[in-house]
Amino acid sequence: MSLYLGIDTSTTATKALLMDGDGGVIAIGRSEYEFQTPRPLWSEQSPHVWWAATIDAIRHLSTQPGVDLGSVGAVGLTGQMHGLVLLDQTRQVLRPAILWNDQRTQAQCDEIRSRVGRERLIQITGNDASAGFTAPKILWVRDDEPEVYRQVSHVLLPKDYVRLMLTDRLAADKADSSGTLLFDLAKRDWSAELIEALDLDPRWFPETLEGSEVAGHIGKSAAKVTGLREGVTVVAGAGDQAANGVGVGAVSPEVLAISLGTSGVVFAPFDRPMVREPLQAFCHAVPGTWHLMGVMLSAAGSLRWFRDSIAPDHDYDGLDRLAEEVKPGADGLIFLPYLTGERTPHSDPTARGAFVGLTVRHGIGHLARSVMEGVAFGLRDSVELMEDGIQGADVRVSGGGAVSRLWIQILANVLGLPVTTVKTTESAALGAAVLAAVGDGAFASVAEACDAVVETGDVIEPTGDSDAYDHAYSIYRDLYPALRDKFRRLSDSDREPAESDDSPD
Ligand code: XUL
Repeated sequence: MSLYLGIDTSTTATKALLMDGDGGVIAIGRSEYEFQTPRPLWSEQSPHVWWAATIDAIRHLSTQPGVDLGSVGAVGLTGQMHGLVLLDQTRQVLRPAILWNDQRTQAQCDEIRSRVGRERLIQITGNDASAGFTAPKILWVRDDEPEVYRQVSHVLLPKDYVRLMLTDRLAADKADSSGTLLFDLAKRDWSAELIEALDLDPRWFPETLEGSEVAGHIGKSAAKVTGLREGVTVVAGAGDQAANGVGVGAVSPEVLAISLGTSGVVFAPFDRPMVREPLQAFCHAVPGTWHLMGVMLSAAGSLRWFRDSIAPDHDYDGLDRLAEEVKPGADGLIFLPYLTGERTPHSDPTARGAFVGLTVRHGIGHLARSVMEGVAFGLRDSVELMEDGIQGADVRVSGGGAVSRLWIQILANVLGLPVTTVKTTESAALGAAVLAAVGDGAFASVAEACDAVVETGDVIEPTGDSDAYDHAYSIYRDLYPALRDKFRRLSDSDREPAESDDSPD
């Protein structure tokens, strides 16, 4: 029986997940790395690091029991979205990739809006310009590194660089490409109008395919360094959010996925292109399917920051126990989770975190609980923006934060909805493996594969407390507008010393 390999090139590690033909996970290999922030707001990573980590993760996988790389029948790719990889005409990397969490392109976002018109931009792509997307990054290179820009022959997304190394083919998938701000959401292809409006060369952008379509085969030299068989199929795959949707079974409107990872994502599939700004609207990895998505940038990342910086003597279980002793609403303490700026609902790189309402009565348990509640409020913001679109959907929660039963209960109570856990770690890599299996004919469709592969766990019903949470949420909603201007001023004063560091004297 064939095995299927999903490779996830994420921001902090490459994961290689091996799945059997019935959807069982055999083993996972990992290789970790870091990203660089050479200046405030910048975030970069070398594509060479991804390829070295891919080889390393597959090697790590191959050392585990039950792993036979020779039986891999197809490979699926996923990874961090929106990153900019630039290659010259000999396909050499021109500069470090600029990542999804880079915030340097505010001026280029303004330029895109004024060249295209904000309404038209949203009409075509489903999205307003946002600093993390790919198109404004291309314009930044044009403005700030013209000597690099002159040499550009190919523009790729991160996982598609790994594809190039594996197969020697330039190709992309439709889900990831729809996160570039250069893609026509309804037509599921590059927008000639936008590419022309921004004076870009249409030949830079590779062919795009649906997630389970064949997008190349393992080449000779890749086979040699990875241990995979030469000629094995590599399917198009998907950006990490769409692949995660597949990995938790959110491939039709009946299932809404919430991910409580470093970032927090509310992901709702639709069978037609939906646009509901400020939510993001992208193509899903399944033909004829799209999704809306709300992304908060620090979800479980907020609790990790809290544990590392404020409560280093506590582990997560200990924090859970202390937080559980505190009443819903944390005795009038509210946490704003904008520790790394925010994307949804406030697209604002200068937004900041805050504890509001501190008194001498508050201790570590209150602070921990308010962090969990603040993140749940941020997720509720996106759920509310989806309005009627998600009525009756089965809400599935995954990600590192979902191991906390208390946090899931808070989420169920804040949303007033039952929440189902998913017994999957590495759901994006699993989604990529599922797309590979479908491409290889092991399943008739992605939906059929998800039914076989995705294992759900407990259903956590809301247990009340809605009055306390509604009261706290209404105050939470008022806090960002009240503080927005102050956040901006704090960021300005923060940036001044860094800028003067750069000036010659
Ligand atoms: C999605 C997004 C992140 C990145 C990194 O829009 O920005 O999920 O893909 O994981």
